[in-house]
Amino acid sequence: MRKIVAGNWKMNHGPVAAAGFFDRFRPETDPESVELIFFVAGLSLHAVEASARVPVGLGVQNIHWEPSGALTGEMSAEMAAEAGASYILAGHSERRHVFGETDAEVSRKVAAAVRAGLVPVVCVGELLEERRAGRLAEVLRRQVSAFVPALRGSGEFMVAYEPVWAIGTGETATPYDASEAHGIVREALGALGKAPILYGGSVKPGNAAALMSAPDVDGVLVGGASLEPEVFARIAAAGEQSVE
Ligand code: PGA
Repeated sequence: MRKIVAGNWKMNHGPVAAAGFFDRFRPETDPESVELIFFVAGLSLHAVEASARVPVGLGVQNIHWEPSGALTGEMSAEMAAEAGASYILAGHSERRHVFGETDAEVSRKVAAAVRAGLVPVVCVGELLEERRAGRLAEVLRRQVSAFVPALRGSGEFMVAYEPVWAIGTGETATPYDASEAHGIVREALGALGKAPILYGGSVKPGNAAALMSAPDVDGVLVGGASLEPEVFARIAAAGEQSVE
């Protein structure tokens, strides 16, 4: 199976920068060798769709669970789909820990994504103190069991295991840590355990191949290192070499 290499641009790359990204990314990458997904600002969806000119999956980083309404500043799953998104990140650690999103809210967002025909990429991961306290499996099982009912047993979805202590810190889980956590997530998913599981947290060109070669790691979700076209292209190339 091809590895999945996803970029999470966070609050970066408006429409102009997004279009410019692909002018430099395109010559550096073989888009057929890995499955590329870009999670971009809603405002930049159209620019990416118009300028990518290589096959990429497009996603947004957050939605509200209501389909429409008096919710100033929010964007629904239906609106994201209409604007060209096929994927949605749900429960990213910055949403959980900066914006206080709860497991229950993540689950409502997953349900909204399914309703709108978007593929949810649900992020889970433990805090450093939870890991140190030996609570890794408990936290992952809690986060997984909260969103599984929202999938209603149908449709495509992915999980991204992103240990909170590794996001934007330069600290990366070892390939062994990633495999162990992915195994826990797979087990917690039960009958849905064949879903792709991505690793995220300070993925760089230097560690991407080892992480993507680890058992149970189907791809990566890349934050900071997805912003520079040449750097992200090197991560995509690492995925090409890690095909099992
Ligand atoms: P990072 O972010 O690669 O900058 O650590 C990963 C993420 O937040 O998805």
